[in-house]
Amino acid sequence: MSTSTTSTTPPQAVLTPYITTSQINARLDTLADELNADYAGQSVVLVSVLKGSFMFLADLIRRLTFDCTVEFVRLASYEGTSSTGSVKPVDLSLPVLKDKHVLIIEDIVDTGLTLNMFLEYLKSVHQPASIKIAVFLDKKAARQHAITPHFVGFDIQDQFVVGYGLDADGRYRNLPEVCILEQPSGS
Ligand code: IMP
Ligand code: MG
Repeated sequence: MSTSTTSTTPPQAVLTPYITTSQINARLDTLADELNADYAGQSVVLVSVLKGSFMFLADLIRRLTFDCTVEFVRLASYEGTSSTGSVKPVDLSLPVLKDKHVLIIEDIVDTGLTLNMFLEYLKSVHQPASIKIAVFLDKKAARQHAITPHFVGFDIQDQFVVGYGLDADGRYRNLPEVCILEQPSGS
């Protein structure tokens, strides 16, 4: 695996390619097959957690064949490359979801804090008929809360990754592939 430094790299940060665009596209095809089989004949509300899931949502939804609508929420828990330990509900506005089938679309599950909080919120406030979770990346080794996504794009190691919508302090979301980000200590 090669190491590359792109024009969007701040001084001294190193991006190492980890999941290629062709691997992403191939996995999205099979992941969509799983979802299309699971939700065949149903109406589903996709709830995308911004900002990180926008690219995953955009690429996944065009492969879905069941009836669906899309909503967005915005939650924030990270500063730089580590979790703050609390989730900030930046925007939780949603239509009535009572008795609907909800599929949460998230970029990555790490400690599980964000999805744990959001699941509890959805269950108690909205009481949907069902709630399932689709994540692009699953960092199982970092888990601190009992969250098991129903649909997973890729299991990854406990490393900080960027690209394909995922960021470090807002940067690198534009990278079309997933890269491991190594920053010099102290930055
Ligand atoms: P959790 O609450 O610890 O599970 O973290 C979930 C959120 O943290 C994700 O929705 C991401 O926004 C962010 N996050 C966790 N790990 C990474 C990473 O490796 N790269 C970029 N963002 C991450
Ligand atoms: Mg996120």
